[in-house]
Amino acid sequence: MNFRKFGRDGHKVSVLGYGCMRLPTESGKTDGTVIESEAKRLVRHAIDSGVNYIDTAKVYHDSRCEEIVGKILQNGYREKVLIATKLPIWDVKSKTDADRIFDEQRRDLKTDRIDVYLLHNIQRGYWDTVQKFDLIEWGIKKRESGEIGYFGFSFHDSYDFFVEVVNAYDGWDFCQLQYNYVGESVQAGRCGVNYASKRGMSVVVMEPLLGGCLANPLGKMADLFEWNQHEGRDYQPVDLALRWIWDQPQISVVLSGMSAYNQVKQNLKIASRKDYGKLTQEELQFILRLQREYDKSLPIKCTKCRYCMPCPDGVDIPLNFELYNNHSAITKMKEEKSENILNKILYNSMSKQQKASNCVKCGKCEKICPQNLPIREYLKTINITFKS
Ligand SMILES: NC(=O)c1ccc[n+]([C@@H]2O[C@H](COP(=O)([O-])OP(=O)(O)OC[C@H]3O[C@@H](n4cnc5c(N)ncnc54)[C@H](OP(=O)(O)O)[C@@H]3O)[C@@H](O)[C@H]2O)c1
Repeated sequence: MNFRKFGRDGHKVSVLGYGCMRLPTESGKTDGTVIESEAKRLVRHAIDSGVNYIDTAKVYHDSRCEEIVGKILQNGYREKVLIATKLPIWDVKSKTDADRIFDEQRRDLKTDRIDVYLLHNIQRGYWDTVQKFDLIEWGIKKRESGEIGYFGFSFHDSYDFFVEVVNAYDGWDFCQLQYNYVGESVQAGRCGVNYASKRGMSVVVMEPLLGGCLANPLGKMADLFEWNQHEGRDYQPVDLALRWIWDQPQISVVLSGMSAYNQVKQNLKIASRKDYGKLTQEELQFILRLQREYDKSLPIKCTKCRYCMPCPDGVDIPLNFELYNNHSAITKMKEEKSENILNKILYNSMSKQQKASNCVKCGKCEKICPQNLPIREYLKTINITFKS
């Protein structure tokens, strides 16, 4: 296993972390019943092989994940890892809720201290709650008292807002970002990774394989892999996707949700390679071609120039387009295999103003869009898609 530094004290963490949102389930879907014996075998094997960062959350697996992780980490495993879990901001409705939830998490995880604690899924729509209930001050106090080790947040919004959140507090230890080679400019993106790093924060990556899509690329992306094999280059989708992230030294841990034993074995092998964090020029060129094919397949050709912003009514046009594009790409790549609800959840946690449904069709944006996109039509489609 390879290791990198995490937190302002440079704690040694494995470059591969276990993401417990996708433990093996009976139905094969994230909302199914977890097969606990298999989950235990997978997670313990990962820890025995050097993984020392375990990510969970109150809401995963029908709110049962923390309890399951707590059981898996019995018999000496707890001491070998950093446990990361998150405060569901949307469940905080009063001053005492954060404390209550935190205590439930410690009970379920069977630990007094939570090593790594995150405000879960920071988006503009939840920012009022963070401020109203002083959740940053609350986290600082928990860290001062030693009940939390490192304090940070996971994030799903635009780069501009990311900067606002980072700047709201000097002492964030880290952030957790959705990041993969087809999402270099999605959400906080590469700019966010660089910005956080400049501010002394560690970066944890989630969805490195776009929820599994990049493990089995379809269409033109699959053709590119096949063509390269004919040419004698044995590029492997998971290997390239993970190493593309590790090629960036600003990133500490890459979380992978591994739902099968062969996935754990494969990802451990990649994370233990000597050259895990170094792509060749040839590999980088190949990834560039994959990125181009992916971008071409997106239904809305928005370049995120943001000329359309600000919308007089507060609709976040580029963010709505991004969620819709991700949603379409995942639906296409995963076919019927997945329920594909993540982008719907993200859409629904935007503020009322930001959503496509708030468009009054004034058309100001279309007059200025350099790509001449029919923005009003797209927003209408997005509203219908995410409402259903
Ligand atoms: N804080 C947040 O807001 C938030 C949001 C999302 C995720 N997360 C955390 O971040 C973790 C990582 O995100 P993610 O689970 O979406 O990661 P991911 O690596 O993008 O996707 C995981 C999926 O990729 C597939 N996979 C993994 N390794 C593979 C391999 N070697 N070969 C083939 N397929 C492979 C599996 O799909 P199949 O199961 O379909 O085979 C697995 O379920 C989550 O588990 C969770 O802990 C946090």
